[in-house]
Amino acid sequence: MLSRAARAARGLAAAAAAPLCPPEVSAHLARLAPAASKLAGEHHSRRHRSTVPAARGQQGSPKILITEALDMGTPSPPPPRHAGHVAYERPHPSARTQSRSSCPVPGSLGQLGLEMARFLRRVYGQDSVLMSDIIKANRDVAEEGPYIFADILDFKGLQEIVVTHRVDWIIHFSALLSAVGEQNVPLAVRVNIEGVHNVIELAKQYRLRLFVPSTIGSFGPDSPRNPTPNVTVQRPRTIYGVSKVHAELLGEYYHHRFGLDFRCLRFPGVISSDPPGGGTTDYAVFMFFEALRTGRFECYLRPDTRLPMMHISDCLRSLWEFMTAPTEKLRRRVYNVTAMSFTPEELAQELRKYVPELQVTYRPDSRQLIADSWPQVFDDSEARADWGWKHRYDLSQLVETMVQEVGEQVKREAAAEK
Ligand SMILES: NC(=O)c1ccc[n+]([C@@H]2O[C@H](COP(=O)([O-])OP(=O)(O)OC[C@H]3O[C@@H](n4cnc5c(N)ncnc54)[C@H](O)[C@@H]3O)[C@@H](O)[C@H]2O)c1
Repeated sequence: MLSRAARAARGLAAAAAAPLCPPEVSAHLARLAPAASKLAGEHHSRRHRSTVPAARGQQGSPKILITEALDMGTPSPPPPRHAGHVAYERPHPSARTQSRSSCPVPGSLGQLGLEMARFLRRVYGQDSVLMSDIIKANRDVAEEGPYIFADILDFKGLQEIVVTHRVDWIIHFSALLSAVGEQNVPLAVRVNIEGVHNVIELAKQYRLRLFVPSTIGSFGPDSPRNPTPNVTVQRPRTIYGVSKVHAELLGEYYHHRFGLDFRCLRFPGVISSDPPGGGTTDYAVFMFFEALRTGRFECYLRPDTRLPMMHISDCLRSLWEFMTAPTEKLRRRVYNVTAMSFTPEELAQELRKYVPELQVTYRPDSRQLIADSWPQVFDDSEARADWGWKHRYDLSQLVETMVQEVGEQVKREAAAEK
């Protein structure tokens, strides 16, 4: 019988080769497939291994087992956590804590994971943040700080990591995004739904603070689109959206039923100069690269498709501010956050201030249907009122920053080709 990972590898390869698979999605699936194949082999050998690699650093620190943290499923709500259990209490970003605790970021090699790990390492110190993924990290990432293999579908392996590394928080990024998920629904169900079951149960057992991102994709055609409030109808039409609504509801349930410190932000499209993971809002990132490489871009959405967006700096800061917000300020466990909304044509107009000759053509594909069911303008007034969320990047600052960052990458590429 094929192992789960072997089936995943086979599924990814098949999806990547599917005739209707958009080229960027194919590329992303193809990137994951070898990792999943490797994972199939690693599953076998891991059965014969009793420990995971130890975290770097923290040498000489005493290892303290807080037995109170090992709540193996008592049905009653746990006693209130005292300060000693919460490693991170809103330090200044420049401050490095002496905490022995770890904060793992599963799915760390994705668009958000790597940058989030770097952000948190600047705040808490290199060894306090444990990156993990099923993909082999490049040398730079591997040398930046602790990086381990973790399959989100392997509950026992996750338990071992939490115990061995004395983990306090989990930031759960592993997922198949909207366009990729539609190309391989069974795998999306497993990674996005079963993966969430695993981390939620784990967080409950070991009393961890858990962050799971949600998305504008958790809304659907029946939701009000302009603006979309924090609480409204959610009837998404993608497996990605369905899995995110599932995560939101399960997390809220575990919070009310078991006292789990579950926190969830619904992000809009996140724009950074790192390669995106196969979402519907990715066009905005591609437009910068193509504008600066060739001066031309073919967009898979219509020119007037308005979607909420934010720069990655705002995204990372929102996550950290939310994770460190005092519990008493949180009237909810799930909040909308955003910074701006724009259409492809509005983005192109702003970009022409730097690339005046930019030509954009439009050829909508299956992602247009997804975008048409998503919010156009996201109402994040509750996050602003409750825990003080405030974005810093508007459209013009976003474009200025991206032109600079992507421009540097494009120059490096050109130099490497010479
Ligand atoms: N990027 C965005 O615009 C955006 C917007 C809203 C929400 N989000 C959410 O943020 C999270 C991260 O998004 P991203 O853009 O970084 O995604 P991404 O696709 O770039 O990264 C996801 C990572 O998950 C990993 N992964 C896949 N299967 C795994 C498994 N079995 N075990 C462990 N890891 C596995 C992949 O290797 C990949 O590195 C996702 O949950 C996504 O829904 C992202």
